[in-house]
Amino acid sequence: MDIANKTVLITGANRGIGRALVDEALRRGAKEVYAGVRGALQIADQRVTPLALDVTNLSQIRQAAEQVDSLDVLINNAGVAIYDDLSNPDVIQQHLAVNFFGVLNSMAGLAPLPIIPAYSLSKAAAFNMTQSLRAHLAAQGVTVHAVVLGPIDTDMNRGFEVPKATPAAAAQGIFDGLEKDEEEIFPDPVSQSIADGWRNGTLKALEREFKAFVPQSAAN
Ligand SMILES: NC(=O)c1ccc[n+]([C@@H]2O[C@H](COP(=O)([O-])OP(=O)(O)OC[C@H]3O[C@@H](n4cnc5c(N)ncnc54)[C@H](OP(=O)(O)O)[C@@H]3O)[C@@H](O)[C@H]2O)c1
Repeated sequence: MDIANKTVLITGANRGIGRALVDEALRRGAKEVYAGVRGALQIADQRVTPLALDVTNLSQIRQAAEQVDSLDVLINNAGVAIYDDLSNPDVIQQHLAVNFFGVLNSMAGLAPLPIIPAYSLSKAAAFNMTQSLRAHLAAQGVTVHAVVLGPIDTDMNRGFEVPKATPAAAAQGIFDGLEKDEEEIFPDPVSQSIADGWRNGTLKALEREFKAFVPQSAAN
């Protein structure tokens, strides 16, 4: 898929990877970029329209859907990561509300990062949902891609001292993967290290096998 002249909506677009995705979409010639934000957003480019969009707020989601006439690409980027030990159900609930019903994925969705278990389980659930959505929406010509990110240098993992890619590099990798129609997109050096293993692995094979259970009319 070529991003040029496309209409794109990005959630969590005010900072971090979301903001870098807005810039990268504009750089690639997107026709219109809807920037989902919870507060104010200053971007001079006339192609950007801010949308009040808390991904846990159903009425804001409905309003956004009404405001956007047609959409080519939706990037569910908004996310939270709170350090926890699974002792507080509210923290688990908050992660599920944003990251599961929200969704841009993480390597923690494939294997849990035990310092942020609530985050990891929300991303695992989101990844699993992505696989089912992919099978169900194929009939409507909608492709569903999972972005599997390694560590990126944003507010989210400030203080977690591991090598990190820049948000700009992550945004480029995400759109590169989308333009190559990759079902799973591994946009940074750490995630790229598991890309071949994932694509040729048992779990991906099982996803393809299970897809056959979706009635043909809905699967293709
Ligand atoms: N950074 C990493 O290493 C890394 C690795 C793997 C995956 N990811 C995923 O990449 C995505 C972006 O992460 P990031 O690193 O850019 O994080 P970030 O810098 O912490 O930014 C998070 C963004 O999500 C928004 N957000 C949070 N809760 C929201 C809600 N309820 N509704 C709407 N927007 C909400 C924030 O908006 P406010 O400014 O209003 O809070 C902010 O724009 C997340 O899904 C994250 O899980 C990141």
